[in-house]
Amino acid sequence: MAANPVVPGSARWSSRAAFVLAATGSAVGLGNLWRFPTEAGMNGGGAFVALYILCVLLIAAPLLLAETLIGRHGQRSTIGSAVHLARESGASPLWGSLAVVGLIANTLILTFYCVVAGWVMHFVISSGSDLIGALAGGNALAGAYADSSVAEIRQIMPALFSDPTMMVVWQAVFVALTVFIVARGVKGGIEVAAVWLMPTFFLLLLGITIYSSITGDFARAVNFLFAPDWSAAFQPGVINAALGQAFFSLSLGGGAMIAYGAYASRETKLGETSGIIAFADTGVAIIAGLAIFPIVFSVGLEPNAGPTLMFQTLPAAFHSMPGGAIVGFAFFVLALFAAITSSVSLLEISVAWVTERFKAPRTLAALVIGLFVFGVGLLSALSFNLLADQRPLPFIPGFENFGWFDAIDGITSKLMLPLSGLITAIFIGWFADKRLVNAETDLSGGVLKAWRFLIAFVCPLAVGAILVLGLFPQILA
Ligand code: PFF
Repeated sequence: MAANPVVPGSARWSSRAAFVLAATGSAVGLGNLWRFPTEAGMNGGGAFVALYILCVLLIAAPLLLAETLIGRHGQRSTIGSAVHLARESGASPLWGSLAVVGLIANTLILTFYCVVAGWVMHFVISSGSDLIGALAGGNALAGAYADSSVAEIRQIMPALFSDPTMMVVWQAVFVALTVFIVARGVKGGIEVAAVWLMPTFFLLLLGITIYSSITGDFARAVNFLFAPDWSAAFQPGVINAALGQAFFSLSLGGGAMIAYGAYASRETKLGETSGIIAFADTGVAIIAGLAIFPIVFSVGLEPNAGPTLMFQTLPAAFHSMPGGAIVGFAFFVLALFAAITSSVSLLEISVAWVTERFKAPRTLAALVIGLFVFGVGLLSALSFNLLADQRPLPFIPGFENFGWFDAIDGITSKLMLPLSGLITAIFIGWFADKRLVNAETDLSGGVLKAWRFLIAFVCPLAVGAILVLGLFPQILA
């Protein structure tokens, strides 16, 4: 299957730091800024956050190490690396199917990810023009800085949603940007983007959080995020949402971390780097919550707005805050940077496989897959307007009422990513050669034992149970 055995030198990170930045860039994205606050807001706040952190510690972080080690050991595409480790372990190459499920899931995720990132671009422009207006009017530091009213600001998103052409144009621009970076290669494209965009991202996030803690209702946000109402944790769907979010946010299950691991050097200590990446990603999700909710609360808005939280509630809130013109613009720029470093990792998985399998030039592979992603993404983009009535998955419990966008998001993050994570855990915990696996982890003693226990027992049991619960929520009811 994997004809081209080892990734070429140009497809290697130039340093351990570059690997950590790129992998953190993959993990930190719209999942942290848009999906995490949305899910937390809709699933009862603190209970969801507590379950989420448990899922990260016990399931996602151990799997992150499992994925990066499959890649680093295989030095191939995700499918090539999984098959390689299976063969070396004397196990069936069918274990490579874990990466096939992942590759399909991640390509599907990219289709709607580019749609949301397109909205972000639209808001970069609209908040940018607001800022220019406020600067010209000399009221950039005032509250209610823009000529438009709050009601008008809340209309930006519905107006965009009812304009299919505009949505599709932004989606196309973002797909093109992703294709351009991936076509430039691992070192020349993805790494360069991560090394520039991620540090800027962290600085902007820090600035906005400080602003938000000073001007917003910080105490209420802390209470909302950290004081769990445990009765909410046992609502059907909450644990499923928390696990799905952990997979989505850490870029797990789809193979992005296998792909990035393949470009890491032998000297990189994967146990250590996995810890750093998981910590950074979870930290950013929580900090993003602490940046967003104080502002939302301080102007008396509700946290459970759903996917419109970032695009309707937040811009309206910024509008009423002193200096909101500047912070609002900075926020959307930051979200765009985060989205880019994640979307390139989503595309890289299939591009690496196509170049390996069909010996296709990288640029051609990126272009063709980009076109495919754009085409399928139209379903998600248009599900807010022209295709609003379509319900593609009436036969899956819980998905009956979902349009294309929610259906593709739900089926990938709540089913496919956990399923492929489950297969990865069983493979690494039970069937892959123990010696090879242990050597790749750089762990030893009790930590190694704990990791093996989590991968072999906790991950399969917990993920399996949560998957079953997700499909048959009546068990909990
Ligand atoms: N982790 C990204 C985010 O939080 O936005 C999304 C993502 C990237 C999911 C890469 C899956 C993936 F393979």
